[in-house]
Amino acid sequence: MQQRRLGRTGRSVSVIGLGTWQLGADWGDVSEEEAIAVLSESLDAGVTLFDTADVYGDGRSETLIGRFLAGRPGHGVTVATKMGRRLPQEPENYTPENFRAWTDRSRRNLGVETLDLVQLHCPPSAVIDADATYDALDALVGDGTIAAYGVSVETTDQALAAIARPNVAGVQIIFNPFRLKPLDEVLPAAAAADVAIFARVPLASGLLSGKYSRDTSFAANDHRAYNRNGEAFDRGETFSGVDYETGLVAVEELSAALPEGVSLPAASLAWIASRPGVTSVIPGARNTRQARANAAAADLLDGADLSSFEAAVADVYDRRLRADIHPQW
Ligand SMILES: NC(=O)c1ccc[n+]([C@@H]2O[C@H](COP(=O)([O-])OP(=O)(O)OC[C@H]3O[C@@H](n4cnc5c(N)ncnc54)[C@H](OP(=O)(O)O)[C@@H]3O)[C@@H](O)[C@H]2O)c1
Repeated sequence: MQQRRLGRTGRSVSVIGLGTWQLGADWGDVSEEEAIAVLSESLDAGVTLFDTADVYGDGRSETLIGRFLAGRPGHGVTVATKMGRRLPQEPENYTPENFRAWTDRSRRNLGVETLDLVQLHCPPSAVIDADATYDALDALVGDGTIAAYGVSVETTDQALAAIARPNVAGVQIIFNPFRLKPLDEVLPAAAAADVAIFARVPLASGLLSGKYSRDTSFAANDHRAYNRNGEAFDRGETFSGVDYETGLVAVEELSAALPEGVSLPAASLAWIASRPGVTSVIPGARNTRQARANAAAADLLDGADLSSFEAAVADVYDRRLRADIHPQW
């Protein structure tokens, strides 16, 4: 598995990481046993970046990661967690006192003295733009509570604002074949500033697996059933904000451009990982089969010809998605 520098931190992380929202909640039921198996399968496949958050299952995802890693001394995994959604996402809640309380809870959940990387969890723009935010984060680095910090964002403007800050180590943003705007300015700016980019929702919540149809139904406790129109959180986090029916047609067109023997999710992950400026792609996996397949997509970076797929990504985006997606995020 290819390892890449995590921006200014001096750490290295695998080019394919693991998203662990699925191991918390909101994606139907994933048992503890299955969750631990997903972590184990990923680590054994060379994955050294786990992305989590304090709110995934109200700490379940963090706690399972902490328990798993305690049994794997010398594991070499960087855990990137998030904070900021245990209270309403309003600027007055992003205080030094709350940062302290949230990071202390994550330290307990993960069973560590110092958190590797803490990302603000899609805060409002006013928080991303405020000097006080970074003063409070710098203080946490200064006293060893966290080793580094980053910002998870919804929009490219927010990403550019975070990248411009001198001590931001990484920015997490939705980037996949249905979300091409980060190519315009965000990836070049991040590369120039030596800020890591984590590409989240790389499979458009599973749409880019190619396995869904008009008849697919999702469990009631799965955000793909309850957040299609942004009822619970930003609409862009569910299917990347792409209308489901439009997404199915786009998937068919992309699938027609795949190289022989390469699956749509593998091509999507490898295509994302091969864009200059991307540090790591963090697909979520709900079972060991998905974890194994996603890690193996890194093999395509060793010379697979994805040129026809790449051309289709640009063409399908321009014809079907750009007009709706580009102005929003
Ligand atoms: N605001 C934020 O900061 C934020 C928001 C969203 C996500 N994230 C992070 O980013 C990670 C990734 O995003 P995501 O999980 O939302 O979306 P995603 O990675 O685009 O999609 C994950 C889903 O894709 C399907 N899948 C994954 N691998 C597959 C494979 N090899 N073959 C077939 N299907 C496969 C599974 O769907 P099924 O469940 O249908 O099997 C899985 O639940 C999250 O886990 C989380 O860590 C952060």
